[in-house]
Amino acid sequence: MPFIDRDFINDLSDRVDIVGLINKRVPLKKAGKDYKACCPFHEEKTPSFTVVPNKQIFHCFGCGESGGAIDFIKKFDHLDFVEAVETVASESGISVVYDQNVKPVNTRFKRYNELMSEVNDYYQTQLKSSVAKARAVDYAKKRGISGAIAKRFELGYAPPGWSNLHEHNKADNEKLIDLDTLGMLVAKKDKEGDYYDRFRDRLMFPIHNAKGNVIGFGGRVLSDKDNPKYLNSPETPLFSKSKELYGLHHCRKYSRKIDYILVVEGYMDVIALHQHGITTAVATLGTATTPAHLQTLSRATDTIVFCFDGDKAGRAAAWKALQISLPAMTAGLMIKFLLLPDGEDPDTLIQGESVKVFSQRIDKALTLSTFLFDHIKSDVPFETIEGKTLFLEQASALINLVTYSVYRQQLVEGLAQVVDQDVSYVEKMINQSETSAPPIQGVQEMHEAPPNFDEPPMIEMLYDRPATKKAPDNGMKGLMSKMISCVLNYPVLADDTVELRVRHLPKSNVLLELIHSAQIDEEISQKALIKPFEPKPRVYSRLQQLCVMEPSLSENEARDEFLSALTLAEKQHQRSLTSASISTANSSADEKRIMEEIQHRKTPKSS
Ligand code: CTP
Ligand code: MN
Repeated sequence: MPFIDRDFINDLSDRVDIVGLINKRVPLKKAGKDYKACCPFHEEKTPSFTVVPNKQIFHCFGCGESGGAIDFIKKFDHLDFVEAVETVASESGISVVYDQNVKPVNTRFKRYNELMSEVNDYYQTQLKSSVAKARAVDYAKKRGISGAIAKRFELGYAPPGWSNLHEHNKADNEKLIDLDTLGMLVAKKDKEGDYYDRFRDRLMFPIHNAKGNVIGFGGRVLSDKDNPKYLNSPETPLFSKSKELYGLHHCRKYSRKIDYILVVEGYMDVIALHQHGITTAVATLGTATTPAHLQTLSRATDTIVFCFDGDKAGRAAAWKALQISLPAMTAGLMIKFLLLPDGEDPDTLIQGESVKVFSQRIDKALTLSTFLFDHIKSDVPFETIEGKTLFLEQASALINLVTYSVYRQQLVEGLAQVVDQDVSYVEKMINQSETSAPPIQGVQEMHEAPPNFDEPPMIEMLYDRPATKKAPDNGMKGLMSKMISCVLNYPVLADDTVELRVRHLPKSNVLLELIHSAQIDEEISQKALIKPFEPKPRVYSRLQQLCVMEPSLSENEARDEFLSALTLAEKQHQRSLTSASISTANSSADEKRIMEEIQHRKTPKSS
């Protein structure tokens, strides 16, 4: 996409004849100093579409559509911004000035994706042809991995030695630098410009993003004597383990329909389940479940089944998953918990019992509310008054994390039943706990404080979450979320024009702050971007969710998405301002004044 000089765009409106441009498309009638017509953007019988030549703007009092010459052409001719500028200029006999200084669109990510794909090919080839391949192949066989499944998951082998991948790419210095950035090579501390292989003598599991690009690797030792058992890619521009789910791409690719997604702990679990026909499984990458994971999952399925080992660590992980699930509950989403027998994982179970028996376990998974009440109950001496009090306090603090009102109400009623009290009494308890109850241990990590309903509306607005998976939310909240997600994923999108435009939107403080940080450092990590919001748990948790871009977009796609959301948001804002003032307009003088106000808002140069 060509870049048009910014000053040229700013001046263009002053140099064109908006009446002539519009009149060619919609015949206008003179009305005093202005021009009128029936609005081309909505059905109407009496003209409320007005063009004001001395302000170079149009406005429709019927539908609220308004703007300058470029906006009109964009909308009427269905063009993108650049095309609209070019059309307006050419019809006005003006040549467009392109900006030669704007740096070309960043192709870094394209290069990274290609390189990771090459590395993936390299490891797969090594599994077939390395002189040391026998141990790796034997190990895979011993684990019961079939050839077909190894192929499906593109398993590979990083041969022993410090300089295999390095040697393979040595001829191209640029590649070495990129491989370091991507975590595949490690720069030697003592020798500048020299590197060694991060992964050595390991069975390699490529990690794909939802689009199917390889973004990282996990590598397993071939002997349980070696350490660490699994080595994963570090955080890189492509890979963030708190966002990614191993196997999501394969789940989408190999499942006819996704009735549920089983969230398991390990690479081998996902692979073994596939081999036995259960293709709707994903694994977190050695981390606790995050809000970002949940957001991705809830877009892919209606039913999430968390599956953990039955040991202490597994139960703790399940409890953590429950805590982040509560604020994420929305209409139509079901979250369940499957605790396996101690010492077993899905891999060992599915190899030892029939798929039918394993599927019955899935069917019998605990609902979120059952797990919630059971777990707290097991933690307190429930039969005593003190124990029941503790139970009620802890359950209340957790129920307060639920913002989806229907579900919240069901939990309140469920809790009343468990403690054998009136619903109204339990409700009172819960409302009290909102401000006073000490949140129970562990909850603090994800939600440092119970939701504070007195927080400014900005917080509420940022905290909207997809109520349904299907309809995109094009309300102001949805647009804000979209823009935030784009900036979190591509900080390079932030520039001062964007900042200026966003500044004029209502409740845009969070986005503005992100844009501001991103402008200072366009390579800034997501973690650093959202760090300033840590003291605001709800905002922070929502921002964590928005770190995941679903579907994930390229930089160019994200730029388009961002700009169209911004334009829509500006329109909506203007429309709401206009309709507010129009309802009070009662004379043509008022109308005039409103038009002037609109024009004033459209030229935010003065701020
Ligand atoms: N993991 C990790 N680093 C480790 C150990 C584990 O990142 N040092 C992650 C890996 O993603 C692994 C998952 O945690 O797949 C589960 O680990 P664990 O339960 O220890 O192993 P299993 O999946 O059972 O591995 P295996 O069956 O290969 O022994
Ligand atoms: Mn295992």
